[in-house]
Amino acid sequence: MTNLYHLLAVSLILISSFAPTIQNHFATTPPLPVLPLPSYSQLKWQQREIIFFHHFGVNTFTDSEWGTGKENPKIFNPKGLNTAQWIDVAVQTGVSLSILTAKHHDGFCLWPSKYTDHSVVGSPWENGNGDVVQEFTNAAKSRGVDIGLYLSPWDRHDRRYGDSLAYNEYYMAQLQELLNKYGSVNEIWFDGAKGSNAPNMSYLFNDWFQMVAELQGTINIFSDAGPGVRWVGNENGFAGTTCWSTINRTSLSIGNGSIVNYLNTGDPRGTDWLPAECDVSVRPGWFWHKSESPKKLSDLLEIYYNSVGRNCVLLLNVPPNTTGLISANDIQRLKEFKSAIDTIFSKNLAESCSLTASSIRGGKNSGFGPEAMLDKDHLWTYWAPKDNGNEEHWIEITATNGELRFNVVRIQEAIGLGQRIKKHEIYVDGKRIAKGTTVGYKKLHRLENGVIKGRSVRIRVLGSRGIPLISSFGLHFDPFWHPIGR
Ligand SMILES: *[C@@H]1O[C@H](CO)[C@@H](O)[C@H](O)[C@H]1NC(C)=O
Ligand SMILES: *[C@@H]1O[C@H](CO)[C@@H](O)[C@H](O)[C@H]1NC(C)=O
Ligand SMILES: *[C@@H]1O[C@H](CO)[C@@H](O)[C@H](O)[C@H]1NC(C)=O
Ligand SMILES: *[C@@H]1O[C@H](CO)[C@@H](O)[C@H](O)[C@H]1NC(C)=O
Repeated sequence: MTNLYHLLAVSLILISSFAPTIQNHFATTPPLPVLPLPSYSQLKWQQREIIFFHHFGVNTFTDSEWGTGKENPKIFNPKGLNTAQWIDVAVQTGVSLSILTAKHHDGFCLWPSKYTDHSVVGSPWENGNGDVVQEFTNAAKSRGVDIGLYLSPWDRHDRRYGDSLAYNEYYMAQLQELLNKYGSVNEIWFDGAKGSNAPNMSYLFNDWFQMVAELQGTINIFSDAGPGVRWVGNENGFAGTTCWSTINRTSLSIGNGSIVNYLNTGDPRGTDWLPAECDVSVRPGWFWHKSESPKKLSDLLEIYYNSVGRNCVLLLNVPPNTTGLISANDIQRLKEFKSAIDTIFSKNLAESCSLTASSIRGGKNSGFGPEAMLDKDHLWTYWAPKDNGNEEHWIEITATNGELRFNVVRIQEAIGLGQRIKKHEIYVDGKRIAKGTTVGYKKLHRLENGVIKGRSVRIRVLGSRGIPLISSFGLHFDPFWHPIGR
């Protein structure tokens, strides 16, 4: 007995004297998040960076942007339709999600809806037995691309439009068809466009959103007001230079022109995570027109820097032509675009530099040092400073030999723990070369003064919600950027 008590007493002494050392074997914990946080689906959406939109329907054949609803379904005849070709273009452009206009404002349905005859059923294409949504879905799924759908609330064909009850029943019946029949759908797109001839028409967005969430577990619902993804407030593909993924949903309403600036910048005090998507067409119009051609590479790159480079996802419209294919000149331009992005970002000059920081959470070797910014993980490994009450934190990148020559600075936050940075500045060899506000998932500074040469680059974070967490950092050279004489 005595021996056993002795043993117990000795072990207790041993355990208590070893306890602090044992604790030191555990890793430093990540800091608490700063709310609100993205959902799983929002985080996945953000990492896509570029999404395709395909506007296709009767307008493709009437050379118009807005159909009247009086089009004869017989005009829809894309004799060479090959959705695999569309998806191949997405794959070649590095795009992992493509959205199709299942129905546009003209009311013509690209699938054989059983609630109307204004659809592919009335067209000569595949003798009325075709289903564009099905072909699109099959092509996408077999190539590992996710799909999204747009079902226009405004319907200029259906006679129920204007009668709120009957039309909402029709609209929701079609939502159920689309979200039940075609497997997993990753994004659904809603706008608030309305006919001026139907002043009493109300859209039951709440009912629609709940139905969508019920039928598709990982879908992101896009609209002016979310709830998954918000509109950026314009159709030029430009986010605000300040762009928060946070906003107050209670201040938003769909189809309200007075909130576009709020949508463009978001809200540092916003209680909802609702990141912005920038929709723009690769051509002047949303539908294909023989007379139009794709935007210049420099315009597409400008859009990229002002959308993806400002914490947003770029929704790029690529309209199939009357044959049912993406035109060769669009494909050519998209290949140039993809190749330019690869050229700019495949080389990161910071990788061969030495890194220092104002402080490191948990000290050296804690995993929160600045070297965490140079691995491939852009979310869950990051530099974190000590939470020492300081307003300013910084990182510095110094060339180990020779001089750095760059014209793009890339900064990414670990947004899985909330969007934090409010104000930052960039210094080269002690001289300020750029300043900015928000960072978010990705901030690209394409330098207005062109190529910068220097030995050391310091990023000063001068304001943030909680401590800043930087998950990735890059110094790049963009050979396509010629700010002088632009
Ligand atoms: C809209 O509703 C008002 C009030 O219920 C009614 O007087 C009016 O006739 C309706 N207008 C149309 C175009 O249905
Ligand atoms: C539009 O938004 C503004 C600003 O939030 C708000 O005051 C107004 O009530 C909204 N209008 C409608 C019709 O919802
Ligand atoms: C958003 O909501 C937060 C919390 O209620 C509030 O502090 C902030 O002022 C709101 N933003 C705007 C623009 O009203
Ligand atoms: C549509 O694009 C394809 C190339 O992808 C081309 O072969 C075809 O001629 C185009 N159709 C029209 C009407 O321009």
